[in-house]
Amino acid sequence: MNPLKTEIIKQLHLSTALSVAEVERLLEVPPREELGDYAFPCFTLSKAWRKPPNVIAQELVAKTDTTSGAFSTAAAGPYQNFYLSKSKYVETVLKEVFIKQHDYGSNTSGQGKTIIIDYSSPNIAKPFGIGHLRSTVIGQSLYLIFKKLGHPVVRVNHLGDWGTQFGKLLVAYRKWGKEEEYQKNPVNYLYELYTRFHQEAESATQLEDQAREEFRKLELGEKENTKLWRKFREISLNEFKRIYDILGIEFDSYAGEAFYDSKIEVVLKELEENKLTEVSQEALVVNLDKFNLPPCLIKKKDEATLYTTRDLAAAMYRRQTYDFHKSLYVVGSAQQLHFQQVFKVLELMGHAWAKDCIHVDFGWVKFEEQILSTRSGHILLLEDVLRRSIQLVREIIAEKNPDLEEKEKVANQVGIGAVVFAFLSRRRQKDFDFKWEEVLNFEGESGPYLQYSHARLCSLQRKYSRPISSEVDFQKIAGREEYQLTKLLENFPETVKNAAEQYEPHIIANYLLKLAGVFNTYYQNVRIITEDETATKAKMLLVYVTQIVLREGLNLLGIKAPEKM
Ligand code: ARG
Repeated sequence: MNPLKTEIIKQLHLSTALSVAEVERLLEVPPREELGDYAFPCFTLSKAWRKPPNVIAQELVAKTDTTSGAFSTAAAGPYQNFYLSKSKYVETVLKEVFIKQHDYGSNTSGQGKTIIIDYSSPNIAKPFGIGHLRSTVIGQSLYLIFKKLGHPVVRVNHLGDWGTQFGKLLVAYRKWGKEEEYQKNPVNYLYELYTRFHQEAESATQLEDQAREEFRKLELGEKENTKLWRKFREISLNEFKRIYDILGIEFDSYAGEAFYDSKIEVVLKELEENKLTEVSQEALVVNLDKFNLPPCLIKKKDEATLYTTRDLAAAMYRRQTYDFHKSLYVVGSAQQLHFQQVFKVLELMGHAWAKDCIHVDFGWVKFEEQILSTRSGHILLLEDVLRRSIQLVREIIAEKNPDLEEKEKVANQVGIGAVVFAFLSRRRQKDFDFKWEEVLNFEGESGPYLQYSHARLCSLQRKYSRPISSEVDFQKIAGREEYQLTKLLENFPETVKNAAEQYEPHIIANYLLKLAGVFNTYYQNVRIITEDETATKAKMLLVYVTQIVLREGLNLLGIKAPEKM
């Protein structure tokens, strides 16, 4: 907590004889600036002291020791208002950031509390859609946020590498597959085969039966099928990793659905022991009527296991392996029902930790107003999105700043930052329409706008070209805008915490837009580097700490902050 507030609470504790915790609970932030920074309402005391609250407010003012210079105080009706000394306040906050540097906002509260984040998790031989990109970007940011709060974090990519679609692929590949075509562009080609299977199966119904049979053989570990499956998986995974490389993302585990297929028996056993399953239309289900949920399908009549069953096994495995504090699933809201069922079944199995499994859901993504067809949402398009963004930035740089150093690196950082920020600048549960014009708008609420503001802060420091010191005359930066900027800087740690609590990187994105906005207004209104040495020195400290927080905030979103743009 800001030490000036601590001082006020201490004074109130002395004057009212209420406990520190009680004072803290009662202390308010007044609705209007002229009423001060904090207000203490005297209604509660009024009963105990048998005096009207406005009389009490005056008595408290008289009793308050203000010799620390941290604040002044005045009564206003039933409230005792507190006005922080602006220069003292600015001094405390700025010095703290200055000392902590990029560790500002970090903390150790998460130590020993492992967070699992299941994110990205694309499906092999199906499109890596823009929805998977949204999951990737949100999950990555959550990883960075929880790490900052001291949590051990495990990044899990729950690959969709198992399921009946592999039966279809095996059939299609053997029927129509051409090795040369496959080699040219494996992921695309597999998807083509998959699509063709569905087209042909409309008239040739025996295909579906064949696919089921091939998948069954695969589940039994038949050699040839397993060999082909491995090949499909490996090649697709390499393609995905190419995208992750572009984004600078890594995972700790790629244990996907196939991995859990062999761990299903335990689930079935536990379900049975708890007498949870019943047979319905020849399938094995857990009835969830009592909870207003449809039955949870555990095993189909052909004995094939299911996505849901594998998720039950995965949750149990993760609990056993990592003893998690929270296990997050960053998956689109289309799977809400799926996760409700999975978590409910875990709970019924007697796993109290089921309440620590959380579906971090997010809304649909449209691309330039179209809901993506599976086809255009293909992995290659996704890479195209990133490449196109980088290319657009390249063109902008060529036009506006052709002499920029390290052009290619900056184009990469800004092009990718633009796409990433676009995904994080909305509340995750909101649907999102991806539009180039907004994504790359340097003036609008965009990634490039934030990166540009950051580069401007760096450029001021180059211009000043002297070391920044925290021993400055704080009176010189105690004006209204500087104070406002400082308040935002003070809020950064709280913002990071809120983002973690709500699993919502958007909170940081929004904060950064505000921070950049207030700074840019300040920059427009105030000349920072002037003849006045003392004032310049103080303002440069403000510039410096603002840059640190902006950079750190961008980093938490998974966005690089270039020094020149
Ligand atoms: N592969 C799935 C899909 O694309 C997402 C998997 C999410 N994670 C999980 N444990 N179910 O729809």
